[in-house]
Amino acid sequence: MRILVTGGLGFIGSNFIRYMLQTSPEIRIINLDLQTYAGNPENLKDVSGDKRYFWVRGDISDPAIARQAMAGCEAVVHFAAESHVDRSILDPGPFLKTNVLGTQVLLDAARAEKVKRFIHVSTDEVYGSISGRRRSSEKDPLFPNSPYAASKAASDHLARAAFITHGLPVIITRASNNFGPYQYPEKALPLMITNFLENKPYPLYGDGLNVRDWLYVKDHVAAIAYVLKHGEVGGIYNIGGDTSLKNKELVSCVRKIMGISPSLVASVPDRLGHDRRYALNDSKLRKLGFKFAHPFEKALFETIEWYKTHESWWRPLKKSDGYAAYYQKQYEKGTVPFSEIR
Ligand code: NAD
Ligand code: TYD
Repeated sequence: MRILVTGGLGFIGSNFIRYMLQTSPEIRIINLDLQTYAGNPENLKDVSGDKRYFWVRGDISDPAIARQAMAGCEAVVHFAAESHVDRSILDPGPFLKTNVLGTQVLLDAARAEKVKRFIHVSTDEVYGSISGRRRSSEKDPLFPNSPYAASKAASDHLARAAFITHGLPVIITRASNNFGPYQYPEKALPLMITNFLENKPYPLYGDGLNVRDWLYVKDHVAAIAYVLKHGEVGGIYNIGGDTSLKNKELVSCVRKIMGISPSLVASVPDRLGHDRRYALNDSKLRKLGFKFAHPFEKALFETIEWYKTHESWWRPLKKSDGYAAYYQKQYEKGTVPFSEIR
């Protein structure tokens, strides 16, 4: 089977490609990735010589490139996106172009190329912040709160519309917060681990009581591969981690494993519009027969080990990133990080 993966140089896409090459000997993978700040060929250095894998550098929102890359593919697994909430607060433009327009371009190309499966990879953030002990299920309405989440919700609607209107064989997956190797060090966990390794404070937003459900990336990519094979066309599948933690609790877990003092946690003013809680009901995926294989504590330990042993991967990223440097400076000064943005 020949498949098109979009965004395969990013965190989850690169883990997915590695998983597919390891588990599906007959697979052929075209990776369409623009190599934005988050796209890193180093993420797939170990498989770059594999003849079953080919990277096309290009923009998913370019219709000619999308069609060219998709020609002859049976399936599309669409990861490419602008993915960081804080960046979407600063500048939503690229989020609309890639996540919304780019998704529509891919859906149109998939129709023209008659692909047999189109997996649209989405997020629990489209459901918005949920209260109490509730868990979002696939039939819940979407109430996205950040520009990132709104752009992903728009793309989910477009994917569903392509199924309803044209019968395009779309399946949507919505996962909770991922962690694991090759995650860009702007997201909470890799930022936390690498800051601790650099003896720098981790900026904890607000009161630290926001709740996220943590999913190991290796379980996420296995679930996507499973849905690609067994999922029902037109269906939506939540992929949760079954590990709900307050941000404060997550920091404590990491501090304990790494032997870090509480003084390296800096309370900073809250993210604008910061969603209080995400949690997914993923019983539909479990009923389909998927089994999660990675317990949280072990996966977190392995992830910390990975960042410890891959300094040459993350140090240049942190050094060259003006955005991260800007935030770091704000936190270190202890000033209101978002005051200049407001
Ligand atoms: P990422 O930011 O690490 O990677 C995104 C990749 O997309 C990069 O390689 C980048 O170069 C590429 N890309 C961006 N714009 C492009 C464009 N216009 N054309 C082609 N390529 C482009 O993202 P990630 O964390 O790996 O997330 C992948 C997908 O999973 C996203 O759709 C995201 O919404 C979704 N998701 C992420 C999480 C999470 O916790 N990270 C959770 C649930 C769902
Ligand atoms: P993040 O990794 O940005 O994922 P998302 O906002 O998409 O869930 O953040 C995870 C949680 O950690 C979220 O509640 C915001 C919080 N957070 C911090 O407290 N400090 C930080 O520096 C970052 C990046 C996130």
